[in-house]
Amino acid sequence: MELSFRVEVNPLRLWRAPRLGTSQPGNARRSSSTNKSALTRASCACLVFFSQFSRASRRSKSSTVCKAQPSRPRLLLLGGCGRIGTAAAVHLMKRAPGPLEVILAGRKPERGKEAVEEVKAEVELGQGHDVSFCQVDWQKPGTLPLDGVDVLLHTAGPFDGEPTVLQEALEKRVPIYVDVADPMSYLDAAEALDDKFRDAECMALCSAGAFPGFSNILAMECAQRLRESGSNELQDLNFSYFTAGLGGSGPVNLLITNLGFGDPVPVFQNGKYAPQMVAGSEMRKVDFFLDEGDPAFKAVGRRDVWSWPFPEAGTVPRRLKIQGNSSTGMGTAPGIWNDILVALVSLVPRELWQQRGFSEALAYFSLPMVWVTDQFVKETHAMRVEATSPDGRNCVCVQTHQSFRRCVAQSAAEFVLHLLERRGFWGASPFPWQPGVYLPERLAEDKEVREELLERLTTTEGTISCGFQLGESC
Ligand SMILES: NC(=O)c1ccc[n+]([C@@H]2O[C@H](COP(=O)([O-])OP(=O)(O)OC[C@H]3O[C@@H](n4cnc5c(N)ncnc54)[C@H](OP(=O)(O)O)[C@@H]3O)[C@@H](O)[C@H]2O)c1
Repeated sequence: MELSFRVEVNPLRLWRAPRLGTSQPGNARRSSSTNKSALTRASCACLVFFSQFSRASRRSKSSTVCKAQPSRPRLLLLGGCGRIGTAAAVHLMKRAPGPLEVILAGRKPERGKEAVEEVKAEVELGQGHDVSFCQVDWQKPGTLPLDGVDVLLHTAGPFDGEPTVLQEALEKRVPIYVDVADPMSYLDAAEALDDKFRDAECMALCSAGAFPGFSNILAMECAQRLRESGSNELQDLNFSYFTAGLGGSGPVNLLITNLGFGDPVPVFQNGKYAPQMVAGSEMRKVDFFLDEGDPAFKAVGRRDVWSWPFPEAGTVPRRLKIQGNSSTGMGTAPGIWNDILVALVSLVPRELWQQRGFSEALAYFSLPMVWVTDQFVKETHAMRVEATSPDGRNCVCVQTHQSFRRCVAQSAAEFVLHLLERRGFWGASPFPWQPGVYLPERLAEDKEVREELLERLTTTEGTISCGFQLGESC
């Protein structure tokens, strides 16, 4: 039985000033709705008033609201010449409310030139934006050009070692650091730097892509909606993802997927953290839609997923203190890839997947076949997050996007813009500057911050749908 409501792409009522130089569907929707009638304008004014009133009271409680910064922020985008990096640069410049300087950083100058041209072709630089290239190898310690940098965005994975780039950002006191990392060990090491970041008055946000990242925020919202419907406790939390082929992302993601088959899946069982060696198994069917009227039904529908070690199955339940189990799964298209991967994982010992040489060789071997099938399957992306209460009620969120690559990039870019505004760029921010090392769920624990982030993340260009539904779990 369905108990509750459904919300379309923009689920929130929070008012925001239209962004400069953008033509996003979300902005168009916002401005056309404010023009509809005097009544609508009056209710918007009320919302603005209440929003500003509550923000003013937040401000008075905080001693660390940043003053408006007079200058143009400078952003170093490590991995900026990659598939996700270039898309992030484009989105940043399209959605920033003011001018921005972006430096794409990578190891190959020829690729750097091309990447700068790619970005320039998609954004209007006349608005004071600037984009350039800088040759950098982050694996050479102490060589990152961080002087005068306001934000370091790190998309040059894999993140399968120590968080050395984060440590370098701390040493140079870069005010804002954001990455799209996923291994649990990396995130634990990053979070251990929390006190040092506080002392340095810098903010770092790790795992800030689509999954993990955006999906962590959706889980926090599902939990809140269940709570508001009368459930104080949270039982289970499940994350499922679908990406057609590589979803437009780079081949490094094949390597990362293979390496993950050798890692424990960081799940909770009976309320306790209990990682399981189940990556690439436990195939199951997942509905990536809320009902048949949901645009996601046609765009994605029902898909197979198998377990994979996404850290949010461990980090979000830890923050929400769930009493039951958590799970993560992902699936791809065409479906035959799911069967091949599951069969391979059952044949090849886990220790072999952990070895970089093996996982890399397999990634290179499968790349041409993946490339061929990718020509037929587009880049479609979907996420389903489900939170369940002990009495069997649930809150499900399904989000779909035309392109996985763009969704990851846009999510990282929106997290960066949120932090830049908090830092005081482009005007005073309603949210305080709170130094430390964050995962998305900690940042979104604050209801107002979560609403602002959701409004950003659900209104990006290419979004097909995003809806929440309260009901009963099957
Ligand atoms: N959280 C999420 O939702 C999510 C989802 C998918 C992917 N990801 C992450 O996103 C990352 C990027 O994916 P992608 O599709 O953009 O991959 P990609 O196209 O291969 O881009 C990676 C870029 O990083 C650069 N790079 C690699 N090693 C470097 C080094 N030592 N120093 C400087 N630059 C280096 C590469 O440039 P050069 O080779 O020219 O140096 C390349 O342009 C992945 O590694 C993955 O961890 C996150």
